[in-house]
Amino acid sequence: MAFTAVELIEAKRDGRELSPDAIEWLIEMYTDGVVPDYQMAAMAMAIYINGMSAAELAAWTSAMLHSGEVFDLSDIGAAKVDKHSTGGVGDKISIPLAPLVASVGVVVPMMSGRGLGHTGGTLDKLETIPGFTTRLDPDRFREVLSTHGMVFAGQTETLVPADRKLYALRDATATVPSLPLISSSIMSKKLAEGLDGLVLDVKTGTGAFMKDLEGSRLLARTMVDIGSKHGVRTIALITGMDQPLGREVGNANEMTESIEVLRGHGPTDVIELTMALGEVMMELAGIDGGRAALEDAIDSGKALQKLIDVTTAQGGDPSFIEHPGELPKCSEEAVVAAPAAGFVTRCDALTIGVVATRLGAGREHQEDIIDPGVGITLEAKVGDRVEAGQTLARVAYNDVARWHAQQESLASAWTFADSRPESPDLVIERIEAS
Ligand code: URA
Repeated sequence: MAFTAVELIEAKRDGRELSPDAIEWLIEMYTDGVVPDYQMAAMAMAIYINGMSAAELAAWTSAMLHSGEVFDLSDIGAAKVDKHSTGGVGDKISIPLAPLVASVGVVVPMMSGRGLGHTGGTLDKLETIPGFTTRLDPDRFREVLSTHGMVFAGQTETLVPADRKLYALRDATATVPSLPLISSSIMSKKLAEGLDGLVLDVKTGTGAFMKDLEGSRLLARTMVDIGSKHGVRTIALITGMDQPLGREVGNANEMTESIEVLRGHGPTDVIELTMALGEVMMELAGIDGGRAALEDAIDSGKALQKLIDVTTAQGGDPSFIEHPGELPKCSEEAVVAAPAAGFVTRCDALTIGVVATRLGAGREHQEDIIDPGVGITLEAKVGDRVEAGQTLARVAYNDVARWHAQQESLASAWTFADSRPESPDLVIERIEAS
């Protein structure tokens, strides 16, 4: 087939439709390093601007999915169910959720991503535990999964390699918030896992890539449709992301909060969302008991033990789960104080996510190394009453100049009023194939 990257970029730039053969060629050549990052960056921007037709999206997702190995996990008898979030601030749910549902019998081959844009990534959070590796070859992936009923993995040279490259490229080229690029990225990873069921946590609000409910619904329906067409029963929950989830933002901070949840503590919103998604995963796996079974798994310590076992199996030092206070820390701490008394009406997820990223919790360039100890601890969220001078957030950082550049922006994340606002909805809607 005689294609060139330039002519395909031109076609997409000018709003013309790419054929399935052209898409297959492009993804293969990009995965093999023949098409360089700069041409794929231009293509991603053309897609960001002009979108994709349904036929293009199907071909793009399939080409990404087949860029590496596609698992056949049928030898593992039990139903395999995973969860994926479209990305939010403080969204650490995968970390408590996977061991929790695995401890009640759901088999979870979890393939996650790194931080993207202003949002954190499960892999970066897990890797704050010294030794923890999410780069598993297919044999090791299977071995951990069949021994422990779950595994935490990332894209590699053999597992959805096209997404591994494109995900990092989009992060550094402002091409993340695109419906076809998000849905193909998520669904190619998930379909490569050989799943029976999938729960999608589709975020909506300022800290989400889809800011409004309509856009989030469309994203949810698009992914539910892709899942159904590939024979994977897919259910999406649309959940609120106007303020961060939980009290902690930043990699080590979020790892610590996740461990708290498995110890039976932690903030209500993180617990509630973990339970809501866990119940849907159990439903898809055909496992009875619902929330009561999940609560039992926490109370008995089974869920926490599952995290300890999987951490050990993936090379991590489990003593950090027992003593999360030993996770990486920063040398500097600052406080954001309330300018006046009142009820918090806004605690803006996007602002907080961008500040955390700029302080080093995320990447601005593909090759950046994240600072695992950078974190923001929120002491006041929507609905809380504060007095003038009261602490709204504590910030841990290493780079003083970066903090000075972000200080004002972080303070602008909160607004106040004299009366208590209504509590924001956590789970807004459930979408599944009709
Ligand atoms: N999560 C992913 O895996 N990919 C995206 O594009 C966005 C969120």
